[in-house]
Amino acid sequence: MSAEERDDNPPVCDYEGSDYQERFWEQGGRAYEDGAEAVALRRLLPSGGRLLLEVGAGAGRNTPRYTGYERIVLMDYSSTQLAQAQARLGQSEKYIYVAADVYRLPFVDGLFDGATMIRVLHHMAEPEKALAQVRSALQPGAVFILEYANKLNLKAILRYLLRKQTWSPFSEEPVEFMALNFDFHPRAVRRYLRNAGFSVGRILTVSHFRIGILKRLVPTRLLVWLDSLASLTGPLWQFSPSVFVRAEAVGSTAKAATGAFFKCPACGTALPEAKGGVLACGNGHRWGVKDGIYNFKEML
Ligand SMILES: C[S@@+](CC[C@H](N)C(=O)[O-])C[C@H]1O[C@@H](n2cnc3c(N)ncnc32)[C@H](O)[C@@H]1O
Repeated sequence: MSAEERDDNPPVCDYEGSDYQERFWEQGGRAYEDGAEAVALRRLLPSGGRLLLEVGAGAGRNTPRYTGYERIVLMDYSSTQLAQAQARLGQSEKYIYVAADVYRLPFVDGLFDGATMIRVLHHMAEPEKALAQVRSALQPGAVFILEYANKLNLKAILRYLLRKQTWSPFSEEPVEFMALNFDFHPRAVRRYLRNAGFSVGRILTVSHFRIGILKRLVPTRLLVWLDSLASLTGPLWQFSPSVFVRAEAVGSTAKAATGAFFKCPACGTALPEAKGGVLACGNGHRWGVKDGIYNFKEML
């Protein structure tokens, strides 16, 4: 096995076969969080773009919100999540479904002019490695919208002060509150972004009112509206459980050559178009396309 092929990737939180979309969003009483995220995305997304990379797209909950982009690549580690997204959005020129690991993205450098990563960073044991991969796939000037789970949230601060929680929300290291589920400190995330080659722009705090009794008593639309007001304090302080950042790819990296799209995640060479459902690189690595989903997780 060559160095590139060594399986030294960080661990992945595997959603294969998961009913996450149905259990968490459709039957989980999360209409308020979903509405609050929709407002944040509306405020942060550019008005238009050519090709967007949606990292950890899951079942495509947010994809219809990226209205300004001509084409969208839904990338996720789980092919069953992508199959759900495909059932919802359909097969068309507009959507490209790609099963891959964010730590080994299968796209040529400088391909995308936009990217989003919503509710995915919290599964990253090595967030800087993942963000560096996203940055490589972007053109300079591309907008990247990142959502992360904030360890410096009011509930965690109160619990810490009341000695009901041992870990400090004020320290910059991530807290792994469940296996492969991390909360991050806002200052650390800004540092990760800068180290990966992004400038940090507008910040919105989101889901301030994620409290069961409020969600039950206050009409969802009113709670979303109140959240959209509280959200505007994002540039000043971040004490909400969820934070959205609009970052921009900086530096003089090259744009992808016209026509180039996928690269081999095992050796990094550009891949020609698929023939008979197979993409093969010059080094003998072969990847399949089945039922409209490119599979860069396992070689053929
Ligand atoms: C909590 S879900 C969020 C899905 C979607 N972004 C949303 O907000 O509805 C997290 C998603 O990240 C994906 N994911 C986790 N680790 C990943 C990795 N290493 N590479 C690609 N996707 C990953 C999971 O498969 C899952 O679909």
